[in-house]
Amino acid sequence: MEISVVDGRSGKTLSTLTDLFENSTIGDVKRQFYQRKPKYYPDRQSFRSEPKGKSLRDDVTLGSLDLDAGSKLYFKDLGPQVGWSTVFLVEYAGPLVLYLLFYIRPAIVYGADAATKPKDKVVDIAAFCWTLHYAKRLLETIFVHRFSHATMPILNIFKNSGYYWGFTAFVAYFINHPLYTPPAYGDLQVYGGLAAFLFNEFGNLCIHLALRNLRPAGSTQRRIPYPTGNPMTQLFSFVSCPNYTYEAGAWISFSIMTQCVPALLFTLAGLYQMTVWAMGKHRNYKREFKEYPRGRKSIIPFLI
Ligand SMILES: NC(=O)c1ccc[n+]([C@@H]2O[C@H](COP(=O)([O-])OP(=O)(O)OC[C@H]3O[C@@H](n4cnc5c(N)ncnc54)[C@H](OP(=O)(O)O)[C@@H]3O)[C@@H](O)[C@H]2O)c1
Repeated sequence: MEISVVDGRSGKTLSTLTDLFENSTIGDVKRQFYQRKPKYYPDRQSFRSEPKGKSLRDDVTLGSLDLDAGSKLYFKDLGPQVGWSTVFLVEYAGPLVLYLLFYIRPAIVYGADAATKPKDKVVDIAAFCWTLHYAKRLLETIFVHRFSHATMPILNIFKNSGYYWGFTAFVAYFINHPLYTPPAYGDLQVYGGLAAFLFNEFGNLCIHLALRNLRPAGSTQRRIPYPTGNPMTQLFSFVSCPNYTYEAGAWISFSIMTQCVPALLFTLAGLYQMTVWAMGKHRNYKREFKEYPRGRKSIIPFLI
């Protein structure tokens, strides 16, 4: 079978691939195209059956696309790529180091006097929560997640790190400031917020473990997630992305615990971003699986 590779934007034919068969996959197409255009290594390539269609997965066979001899596949250059884990490690290591710099060495940021001022216990608890959250994320990136894409565009490393590092400095600056005022409702607010934060972090971990178990090691398989024996995964009965629900819950709890406006702004920005992603993932689930449970929402039970 002969396939023309057409630039999705300009409509120009970039190459004509031969030696392809009904059972050849998009992965085979990428490897052949790479031999002809060495600039475009496979992770940098995206193929679609329509100029503006969805990116085809590597395991999709040409036969399943009803491509005849002389058919076209539309190519998009995803740009230079970097390992997915590298992006995550860089974007999460920054918040860890940066926050602790404000907490452990306040004199560097606020002047020499700051180091001698007594700290409220909520400042210590907040530093513990922040460290726990990002250490957990780093460990999950290394030991738990089974990503389907090996790489992402190199620009993401700057975009994502800018977001996380920027918000970290913003939140850390206010909470560790010598003039920071502790929460109005005292221990009830601090320990109530801490308990809710830990509960949501644990829930988030349980969902990540459940998602990992949906995908056999080394595969990119996707399945419908359902609650498992772990009661924390019951949220799957109500929303498609309970990991985002728990993540938002953790930051709402942190904002209540610290009574800090920058923390609340970070929470709202994260909630907005995760809602957009969750709605996209929810739509994909419904499109991909006819038997997808009805009645589930995207991120907030019964609402969104
Ligand atoms: N605070 C914030 O602003 C913010 C924003 C975003 C994320 N986060 C945190 O970072 C965590 C990870 O984010 P994410 O966007 O990567 O989460 P995600 O898309 O839900 O994915 C988590 C992992 O599970 C896999 N997965 C998801 N659905 C699956 C399915 N149906 N079958 C098999 N595997 C599946 C994903 O693989 P794929 O590679 O195939 O997707 C990925 O490896 C979140 O849960 C959240 O805690 C925080």
